[in-house]
Amino acid sequence: MTALLRLKDVSAGYVADIDIVRGVNVSVAAAAITGLVGLNGAGKSTLMKAICGFLRPKAGAIEFDGVDITGIAPHHVIDRGIWYIPQESSLFNYMSVEDNLSLPLEHLTRRGDVSRAEFYRRIADMFEKFPLLKPRRQAKAGDLSGGQQKMVEFAKAYLVRPRLCLIDEPGIGLAPKVAEEVYQWIDLFAAERMAILLVDHNVRRVVKMSAYIYVLSLGQITAEGRPQAFEGDLHEQVKAWLGINF
Ligand SMILES: Nc1ncnc2c1ncn2[C@@H]1O[C@H](COP(=O)(O)OP(=O)(O)OP(=O)(O)O)[C@@H](O)[C@H]1O
Ligand SMILES: [Mg+2]
Repeated sequence: MTALLRLKDVSAGYVADIDIVRGVNVSVAAAAITGLVGLNGAGKSTLMKAICGFLRPKAGAIEFDGVDITGIAPHHVIDRGIWYIPQESSLFNYMSVEDNLSLPLEHLTRRGDVSRAEFYRRIADMFEKFPLLKPRRQAKAGDLSGGQQKMVEFAKAYLVRPRLCLIDEPGIGLAPKVAEEVYQWIDLFAAERMAILLVDHNVRRVVKMSAYIYVLSLGQITAEGRPQAFEGDLHEQVKAWLGINF
């Protein structure tokens, strides 16, 4: 396996004396989905924030494409090709859908990473892949439904074409039918050969979609393996991995 992202003994937390994640070793392969599962409060989002530069690791190292990116600022992380779709919204509610969508791509165009022609090509392609956004492009992002806002999040990430996309609980708070749609967008990303680190409470789904899965319990990786290792009586196994007896 070629690891695109490698976490080596990473510890991170929000205050001086409390480490939320401890000694985490995780590798994310290029052009594949890697799953991360664990109970509420296990530290999954904290780990993602550490990767994105929102939280400086207290110990350990983070390597992306063979380069040490430990502790670099979030905008530099983005410039290297890592994108984060957080559990909560990252949209500017008072800005239009169109402006929310084009903001990061506009940045790449100004930097010269994406040509103006490519900018327009990607926008057109995005509206083809997310057709429901086209008639809503002038609406304020804050006026959209939760499902539509999530669609904007995915469309925005799709425009950027990151090499690695961190996706944190994409279906949380959405109606079941809309939550189902989220998995089609993830498939679209996978088809573009993006690497994905996926956190989702639907463990069965994560196991099905991922090439490799990590289990995080109380801030530490307690199990890992290919999907085959997690088949069988998944429910019993999940309880065992997470260390719960009930
Ligand atoms: N900004 C913060 N400041 C202080 N503590 C925090 C902060 N964010 C999260 N925590 C704490 O860190 C721990 C791990 O939280 P985290 O959000 O990483 O878990 P999670 O695995 O993503 O859970 P969930 O499945 O509920 O999203 C929790 O005890 C939480 O209270
Ligand atoms: Mg979380």
